[in-house]
Amino acid sequence: MRTFVLRARAAPTDSQKLLASIGKEAHAEILAHTLMNAVFVAQSHRADVRVYLVLESTQDFSRTVFFDINAMHELGGFDERALLGKIARALDASRGMGKEEARPVESGVTVRTVSFERLVLELAENHQLYVMDRKGTPIREQSFQGNSCFLLTDHIPMPKNTFHTLERLGTKKLSLGSKMLFASQCVVLIHHELDQR
Ligand SMILES: C[S@@+](CC[C@H](N)C(=O)[O-])C[C@H]1O[C@@H](n2cnc3c(N)ncnc32)[C@H](O)[C@@H]1O
Repeated sequence: MRTFVLRARAAPTDSQKLLASIGKEAHAEILAHTLMNAVFVAQSHRADVRVYLVLESTQDFSRTVFFDINAMHELGGFDERALLGKIARALDASRGMGKEEARPVESGVTVRTVSFERLVLELAENHQLYVMDRKGTPIREQSFQGNSCFLLTDHIPMPKNTFHTLERLGTKKLSLGSKMLFASQCVVLIHHELDQR
């Protein structure tokens, strides 16, 4: 199982604002591209992939939209409109939710009002966490056993405090080279590397 978490710090939790932010400061397209590259290959999709998108620009609680590909019946298209449409529907389904609640959206898709910090605490119980960082261990030198979970951000870096939390959870820093890439490009390279093993 490969798990990806995108911490989208600039992404609005209001669906209309999210859709209006494509190509603007919040860059909602980052979510679509990351989901697309995590899930789809040409003419098919990958099995055994889970994606958590954590949207943090909010008036109340972060929204974590969870995609369990093995449980999804209807993946829909892989274009930005289709993917952001799925995320927007999950956000609409989350209206009125209290803190740390969960609601099913469709088969394989769940929305939760859970923060990034809370989510990684949970994932650390049965995954080795890797935070993607240009200064980390080169991915080629890293061995992978069991469930791996890769943590990424949008264009806004992780706050310093998060790194302390991640360290306590035994998170390893993993590098894909010295060039600063998009999160979605990191996902492709991670898949590629693991596909070779
Ligand atoms: C556009 S980058 C984030 C840029 C942000 N301004 C920063 O300084 O972290 C998006 C995500 O890709 C990861 N990333 C980008 N290039 C990378 C590389 N060469 N190796 C590992 N992770 C990388 C970053 O750590 C981040 O999680």
